[in-house]
Order: sequence, then C-alpha cells, then structure tokens
Amino acid sequence: MVSDSYLWWRHGVFYQIYPRSFMDSNGDGVGDLQGIIDRLDYLVELGVDAIWISPIFASPMADFGYDVSDYKGIHPMFGDMATFDRLLSEAHRRGLRIVLDYVPNHSSAEHPWFIESRSSRDNPKREWYIWKDGKSDGGPPNNWESIFGGQAWEWDATTRQYYLHLFLPEQPDLNWRNPQVVQAMHEVLRFWLDKGVDGFRMDAVMLCMKHPDFPDNPPVQDQSAWKRIGLTLEPVYTVNRPEIHPMLRAFRQLLDQYDGDRVMIGETWLFELDELVEYYGGELDEFHIPFNFLGTVQPWESGALQAAISAYYNALPTGAAPNFVFGNHDVHRMATRFGAEHHRSAGMLLLTLKGTPTLYYADELGMQDVDIPPARCVDPWGLNAPDLNIGRDPQRTPMQWDRSPNAGFSPAGIDTWLPVAADYGKVNVAVQRNDPESTLQFYKALLKLRRELPALHRGSFAFVDQTTPGVMAYLREADGRRLLIIINFESKEQQVDYSLLGKTGKLLLSTRFVSPTEVSMSALTLRPCESLLIQLMAHVK
Ligand code: NOJ
Repeated sequence: MVSDSYLWWRHGVFYQIYPRSFMDSNGDGVGDLQGIIDRLDYLVELGVDAIWISPIFASPMADFGYDVSDYKGIHPMFGDMATFDRLLSEAHRRGLRIVLDYVPNHSSAEHPWFIESRSSRDNPKREWYIWKDGKSDGGPPNNWESIFGGQAWEWDATTRQYYLHLFLPEQPDLNWRNPQVVQAMHEVLRFWLDKGVDGFRMDAVMLCMKHPDFPDNPPVQDQSAWKRIGLTLEPVYTVNRPEIHPMLRAFRQLLDQYDGDRVMIGETWLFELDELVEYYGGELDEFHIPFNFLGTVQPWESGALQAAISAYYNALPTGAAPNFVFGNHDVHRMATRFGAEHHRSAGMLLLTLKGTPTLYYADELGMQDVDIPPARCVDPWGLNAPDLNIGRDPQRTPMQWDRSPNAGFSPAGIDTWLPVAADYGKVNVAVQRNDPESTLQFYKALLKLRRELPALHRGSFAFVDQTTPGVMAYLREADGRRLLIIINFESKEQQVDYSLLGKTGKLLLSTRFVSPTEVSMSALTLRPCESLLIQLMAHVK
C-alpha cells in the first residue's frame, strides 16, 4: 500500500526520456511520441512515477531540440499534437505524470520571432532578442563566451549589429527584460498547463538575465566548474544574476494557479550550495526541485560523497525538498562514471537517499556510454570541443529493448541516428526481464520497496558513524520502521559490525540478490562492491 502522504514530485521517482533515443515507432531511426506510448507499460512495470521528456517541439535540431522554432508545436519527427494528447492521457490513465522541457533562455534562429527580429532594426520584434552595436573597431560588444565555445556574439550583416547567443549561433538569446517576451513565454507555459501537463523542467534558466550594462566577464577562476567545460571567462555577468529570482517567482505563481500539484524543476548547475538553495526561493516560492547535480561530478568515493551529501542536506532551507541527479543527457552515464561494478550500489544510493531521484533512461539496465566513431559524432558541443571529453553522443544512444537487430529500438536495416551499443545482445530489457538476478530486476525490486516503505520515500535520514573505510551506512526511518543501508565502495570483501543498532535485522535487498533473510548485525559480510538494505527489528531503540 502506498501511504496517503505520497506527494508525487516530492516522494516519487522521475525518469528522464531523451525522446530521440527511447523508441522509434515509425522506422526512421529516431525515437518518437508513439514509441513512448508503446512503452508506457514498461515504465509502469519498472515502477517510476513521472517522466520528464527532453524537447519534442518544432526545431531545426541544431542542438537536438534545445533550439525551439515553435514552442506550441510538436516536431513532425516526433509525431503531432493528437499523438501528444494521446501520450498525456495514456500516461495519466496509468498514473504516470508527464513533465515537459521548457527552453526559455533562447529560441531557434528559425523561430518566426527571430526571423522578424533580424529583418530590420525597426521591426516590432527587434527588442525580443539582444542586439548590440559592435565596438568602434568593429569587434563584438564585449568578451562574453558561448558555453559551446567561441564568442557569444554573431554579426548580422543585414542589420549591421551583433546578436547574443550563449549557446550556438543557431540559438539566439531571448530578451527577458522585454515584457512582451515575458508575456509570450508565459503563454507557452499556460498552453501546456491547460492541456494538463504536470510540470516543466526549465532549461538553462540561470542564464536568462544578463547584467544590464553588459560588462566584460573576468578570467575564469582556477577551481571553477566552468573551467572544466572549457570556458576561459567566469560568467559572472551572464549566469546566476539576482534578477532571475523575480522571474522564477512569476513562473511559479503562474503554475500555482493550476490545480493538481504541477511541478517546477530547474536546471541549476551550481556547486556552491548557498547559491543553489536560493533557487527554492526565500519563501519556497521558486523551484520545487532545483536540480542537485553533485552526484554528476563526485567520484565514487565514500568519504567525499558522504561529505557532499551532508553539506547538501545541511544547506537546505526548512521545508525544501531535497533531490539527486546522477546522470542525464548532458553528462556521462552513471554506470560509466562510477564503474560497472558499482552501478547497482549507485542505484541503491540514488534511490534510498532522502529526496526525489531522477533516473536517466536505461540506467535501470546498467547501460554504459557508447564509444562513437568520429564519423558518427553529431553533438555540436562535442564537435566544437573535441579535446574536452564533453561530447554528449555517448550517453544518448538508442534504448536497448531486445536482442533483435537495432536492439528493438528501430526495425532491422534502419540507420539509427546514433549507433546502437555493441553489447545490446546482453544488455537489454527482454533479456534482463527474464533473468531474476539482472540489473533491471534489481531496480524493479528497489523501486517497489521505495514506493511501499514510507521510511524510504519520506522517512528521516541520518548517517551512521563509520569506522570501516570505504563503507557508507545510513538510517531511514518513518512510522517506527527503521531501515539501514550499507554500501561497500571497495572491490574487496569487508566485515562490518552494526550490533549497536540491534542484534538481528531482516535483509530486504542486496545488489547481489539473496532472498530476504535474517542477518546478525554484529557480523555482516559485504561482498566486493555490494550494498545491503536491512530492516532493523522494531523493538530496537
Ligand atoms: C541544457 C540542456 O540540457 C542541453 O542539452 C542544451 O544543449 C543546453 N541547455 C542548451 O539549451
């Protein structure tokens, strides 16, 4: 039984679908909405609560959908509005929520708004984007850099001004200081909310407000996270400006006018915790879930991870809902980053920490990054910066459904948009469904426990002092039921003693699969890389 206090976005599990790669129903080598509909039963069987779908809107696909040319239209490659409506009702019928991507910082250069804006300096839409004269020597207005490499200004020969693009030149930045833009983009939110979508993941929101005076950005700091992605300047005048917060509060007020617990999720790449938690809003009136990406940068090391998780919990404002992301379409897959042997333990951690977890499609299979031959690389960021290991194709390859050619993603003989992983014969849904000890079965068992046990989806959290190096342990508790999670970060067997917590416990799940059994808390053996989920006996204080 699921408890009454099960609030879907706070206690449930999100599953991110990269729509180009989930299921191709029409045999063109690219995933589509009908494909998602066809696989909804799989998501129910898996046991997730909500799906977030990366952009499905009309787009020239310069950045694979993050360059939107019609915010209220579906790309024909994905289907049409009738198919979207069916997806929404079929998902809701099964109790699954649908969260869409909302891309406010920039549109496509092919959006009619930008086509008008660039047509002449006195076009009514000129101020919908950010246009500036060059410097007296003809160079760009300032030194701002694009996140994807190179300068952030593109010269427009027709109107003889530069426009700003913090990503590709094909992605001009909208001018959020223009009330007409605010109104038009609010209408976009209303359009989808009126249809009944359950919320939005808001793309690159921290970039929407630029410093009004357009000063030069200073050189990047040595320890800066921005340096890792190749920036040479610290984007202090382009990212995380204070004016973003009123803009987010207005989004939130708009969402709050709708019934049904609509959720607002922010793509907040911030590792300074005081900055990150500001995105909840002073009155918890901005994002419900400002994505916490610490799990995408931390190594698989118990001490460092424990310190990072503690610091995160301690930084949260009262009442704020914690959340964790370990992988997505922009970063290497968790099985690759943490190592295949630790993948199930990473899943145990992600799904038993206190907070809303977001899984990335195929994490439940233990799918790895795929080596993409240079001739097949398509990600514009990777192509711009080949030496930085930031190309995103490896984590975006087709979902592996079965052992038929193209892994059951596309029909045999079709060239899929990215190559299918070579290991698809073994790593796929059909094979793992029939193997009681597979990674898929592990995730299904874990998701089931997470849903059924209030201690896991809404219980308190406390680390247990640990004396064995390389072992992390924590307690989750609700309604008098206490669970202990123990994770062995080492590739060797370890003995641990938790007799302080009681004499015996009931082992509910191990990453190595054993049937539920009673265990002695004073002499627990952790096999290499193994994690355990143990229910402590009720009478123990
Ligand atoms: C963040 C998205 O997650 C990424 O995929 C995209 O390229 C940029 N924002 C630009 O929209």
